[in-house]
Amino acid sequence: MKTLRRMGNWLYDRAGLAPLHRFLHEHKVPPEVGRSRKGWYYVFGQALVFVFLAQVITGAALALHYIPAPDHAWDSLNYLNTEVFWGGFVRGLHFFGASAMVLLVFVHMSRVFLTGSYKFPRELNWISGVVLLLLTLAMAFTGQLLRWDEDGISTVAVAATMAGRVPVIGSHLMELIMAGESIGGATLSRFFALHVIVLPLLIFAVIGFHLFLVVRNGISEPPEAGKRVDRTSYRAWYERRKNEGGSTYWPDATWREMVFVAFVFSTILGLALAFGAKGPGPPPDPAAVEAIPDPDWFFLWYYSLIWYKPAALDQLVLVWLPILLIPALLLLPILFSGGERHPGRRPWAVFLVGASFLMWATLTVLGARPYWVPDFETEPVAEEVLRDAPAEARTGAGVFHFRGCQFCHVVLGEGGTYGPDLTTAALRLSPEEMAVRIIVGIGNMPAYHGQLTAAEVEAILAYLRWAADLHDPANEEGR
Ligand code: HEC
Repeated sequence: MKTLRRMGNWLYDRAGLAPLHRFLHEHKVPPEVGRSRKGWYYVFGQALVFVFLAQVITGAALALHYIPAPDHAWDSLNYLNTEVFWGGFVRGLHFFGASAMVLLVFVHMSRVFLTGSYKFPRELNWISGVVLLLLTLAMAFTGQLLRWDEDGISTVAVAATMAGRVPVIGSHLMELIMAGESIGGATLSRFFALHVIVLPLLIFAVIGFHLFLVVRNGISEPPEAGKRVDRTSYRAWYERRKNEGGSTYWPDATWREMVFVAFVFSTILGLALAFGAKGPGPPPDPAAVEAIPDPDWFFLWYYSLIWYKPAALDQLVLVWLPILLIPALLLLPILFSGGERHPGRRPWAVFLVGASFLMWATLTVLGARPYWVPDFETEPVAEEVLRDAPAEARTGAGVFHFRGCQFCHVVLGEGGTYGPDLTTAALRLSPEEMAVRIIVGIGNMPAYHGQLTAAEVEAILAYLRWAADLHDPANEEGR
């Protein structure tokens, strides 16, 4: 114990920790932040700093094994998953850490927006925060391609196409993203350099500036309804109130931050233990011309938006909205630096945050089960479901899966949702009517003329008949 103490004292003296110590103990925070439950609104920023540092550590560990070349990237990740000691776990940590960062960035930003903390004198805190938001999203975006699987590549391909729609500079922007005319080795190198060097360095620098401003301008006090920001007297008032309040950053505000950081870290740890590494998914297939992007969940809403918006709004939603949104965010604290801060007096602010989260959640949920896409990973109907089926119906179930009907049709709970559920189709349609639809096609249903043998069609019809009979109310008592 004594030796430890002596070592501590040695470090304290030689490293010159006294100013840091003094700063932590003497830096004042508004009394509500230190002493009241409102302090919990102020924990998200610190959590972001810690998660970012953790990302740097897990990222560095992964970079030791990762090979940023098209022929090897995918293999090196599988090697990490299967061969490297705890490799898959660290990949999981990195993925869920990234997810946490994206989530926390938006939560932190919403809190700052709702409490009007971006107003005078903290305008630059907000502006540097918007830069951090963009950098975080850029990290998430570039990281996705490093997986070098079908989803990562098609996601970036779609994004590059979107960039290509920007007027005037579109084609240059597209080439800048892809480092050439198409996605290949050069793109991978560029994304790797951005992801492990350029963007992290920028993030470090901007976080430094952001934190400097937090210290210099002080943590904003929780807003009071009816109290307007007064530029001439605010600073003096704030200082007086802080000093009279007597709350210090350490330990009054720090303990809540540490509790929240511990919560975030254990969540990331738990998810990484439970789910392990994310991907890599199937390797890129040059023959799959129309690969459908399945982006990481935090970008899903955007891809969902691309699919759901009416075609007439293409240019507005995909080009002008993002182009105008970024300057709007940057200008927000300049345009609205005064006035009320309390959310109760700013109904538009509350509405905006609420509407954004609702839209995000809706688009994410819609995107998670994209009905517009055939489900190529659908599994055959389970053996025990087919246990009592006659032989021909069993054959039909096999054909139905093997011939890809199940990509688009659910029968007995298995299958894609592109076309209608066919479990009870035989109750509505005669065998002849169904055969016609299968052979000739109907609407978005492809024609199978010449692709299925008569026996296969018969087997499918027997299968659908049997599946429908299971659900026929007339048969209920019989079973
Ligand atoms: C690419 C997706 C897709 C595939 C693959 C597909 N279907 Fe369809 N199917 C559809 C769509 C969409 C409809 C609805 C067409 C409409 O009414 O506009 C449909 C309709 C049908 C219908 C009529 C259902 C009704 O209630 O009117 C039957 C029967 C059917 N499909 C059987 C099959 C069989 C059997 C196969 C495999 C040999 C198959 N489908 C493969 C998309 C598909």
